[in-house]
Amino acid sequence: MPQRRRLVAGNWKMHTTVAEAVTLAEAIRASLPAQPGCDVVLLPPFVSLWAVGRHIAGDSRLQLGAQNVHWAPPGAHTGEIAAAMLVDLCRFVLIGHSERRQEFGETDRLVHRKLEAALTAGLLPIVAVGESQAQHDAGRARAVVAAQTRAAFGGCSEDEAARCAVAYEPRWAIGTGRAAAGSDAVSAADAIRRALRAMFGPVADTIRILYGGSVDQDNAPGLFAEPAIDGALVGGASLRPGPFCAIVAAAGSLG
Ligand code: 13P
Repeated sequence: MPQRRRLVAGNWKMHTTVAEAVTLAEAIRASLPAQPGCDVVLLPPFVSLWAVGRHIAGDSRLQLGAQNVHWAPPGAHTGEIAAAMLVDLCRFVLIGHSERRQEFGETDRLVHRKLEAALTAGLLPIVAVGESQAQHDAGRARAVVAAQTRAAFGGCSEDEAARCAVAYEPRWAIGTGRAAAGSDAVSAADAIRRALRAMFGPVADTIRILYGGSVDQDNAPGLFAEPAIDGALVGGASLRPGPFCAIVAAAGSLG
């Protein structure tokens, strides 16, 4: 089993002005462990990518990503951002977040097309999957995340898959303060891992599977103690430097 370096990503969602984003990045830098022992990725809004990128340039502890990308090459798509526009700004991109799926009707098919576009441009995608409360209650979490994983990655090469991470984010745990139990997260991660193995063989074991949904400094150590969980996608707590850096420290110490 390959050793996977842990990854903690902070999804700032639709928060922070440009000035606030730079201030937040600065505060995170000030509180971050000197050697985090894991990959740390900041995902500010598009409009702050450049400014935050400049601010963290040269700090090898931090990397940058976008929260979304369009599936098409540059062209007539008013208000959208193509993968080719992101490569100068950041290395990572989040794809298929449940808020995109719910609020903007992003289907599995679109998620797949976005993944293809991101990979073609050379970005490192973090693909988000996760079931709804109703699906969870019906005992369908594993089937749902496996199907979303197959739909997103179908047609990708092993090399492409190896550049991706997957984030398991049960919708009912996002922003609710109700993180999934460790056993639920491990079960879903196992279903995702099996789906990836069926498509990519041993390469699947190099792909990091993160958990997201009400991660905070209190539940992070327990989460990272699970060998099946390779990191976290953090929402609310990533806007607060102290808690976010505590989560990073927990990931690094157990990495
Ligand atoms: P919260 O950590 O606020 O629950 O958000 C999780 C999330 O959606 C990260 O992408």
